[in-house]
Amino acid sequence: LPEIVVEHNVRARQESCMSAPPQAAPIAVFDSGVGGLTVLRALKQALPHESTLYLGDTARVPYGTRSHHTVIKYALNNVRTLVSMGEVKLVVVACNTVSAVALPALRAELAVPVVGVIDAGAQAACQASRGGAVAVIGTPGTVRSGAYERALREQGFVGDVISRACPLFVPLAEEGWTSGDVPRLVAQRYLADLPRDVDTLVLGCTHYPLLRAAVAAALAHSHPHIAIVDGAHATALHVATLTHHAHHTHDDHHNQPSHRLLVTDAPEQMARLAPAFLGETIDARDVELIDVMMTA
Ligand code: DGL
Repeated sequence: LPEIVVEHNVRARQESCMSAPPQAAPIAVFDSGVGGLTVLRALKQALPHESTLYLGDTARVPYGTRSHHTVIKYALNNVRTLVSMGEVKLVVVACNTVSAVALPALRAELAVPVVGVIDAGAQAACQASRGGAVAVIGTPGTVRSGAYERALREQGFVGDVISRACPLFVPLAEEGWTSGDVPRLVAQRYLADLPRDVDTLVLGCTHYPLLRAAVAAALAHSHPHIAIVDGAHATALHVATLTHHAHHTHDDHHNQPSHRLLVTDAPEQMARLAPAFLGETIDARDVELIDVMMTA
């Protein structure tokens, strides 16, 4: 597979010789796998004229159970690969686990803006909270990092923050078991001891928006008025503001955007999960298989 990366590098150099205008450069998005398609979906809705380049590191998913050191190393591999493929306008870190631990390393590495999903999720929670506590659910790595609590404090939230890791939600979402008894019972088990005064819950993982109804059903008796928020939409709006200030021209609206999907393993799995995660049907032959640069 390394020759695929080399081929991309050649193409990137050829494209840069053609001096493409900066506004034509894609927004790069990366995730540990297919989950970040929920963020790509929100980006495509908020920015229908922008091109995107999505990388799912499906060969090394999940990141949520790995050490912070390994997550940072993998994240650097991913962005180095993406920027070696040509100019990108901005990098969106769709993965909560990476956003929780690797943003400083990624920002030190890249010359373009790097946007994570945690600030937007925390902001959505602050706006939704009615004076009670906020619960955050995510991968073990995200919960261990304390990143959501820090982001909530930075935004002035003074109430209690309760965090719970819900690792089984990732395979449930990928199995398509998002409704019915199984996900509801799993959610009940994870959230059984949620304090009474929690009025807002953050879905702090790419996969969890698919389980929103199951989480709501699990909390229907104990927390009937709970607000359930996620950062995907707010992240997309933030990216829209950044690209608008930096690059927007009237001509953008005449661009025909392109959307490339890259994976490090099993393109057919991305095609299988795209309807649920991206809200679109895609052909596995349109998903490019690449190898990331192991240089970190
Ligand atoms: N994308 C990850 C996240 O949002 C979930 C899947 C994984 O553990 O890699 O944290």
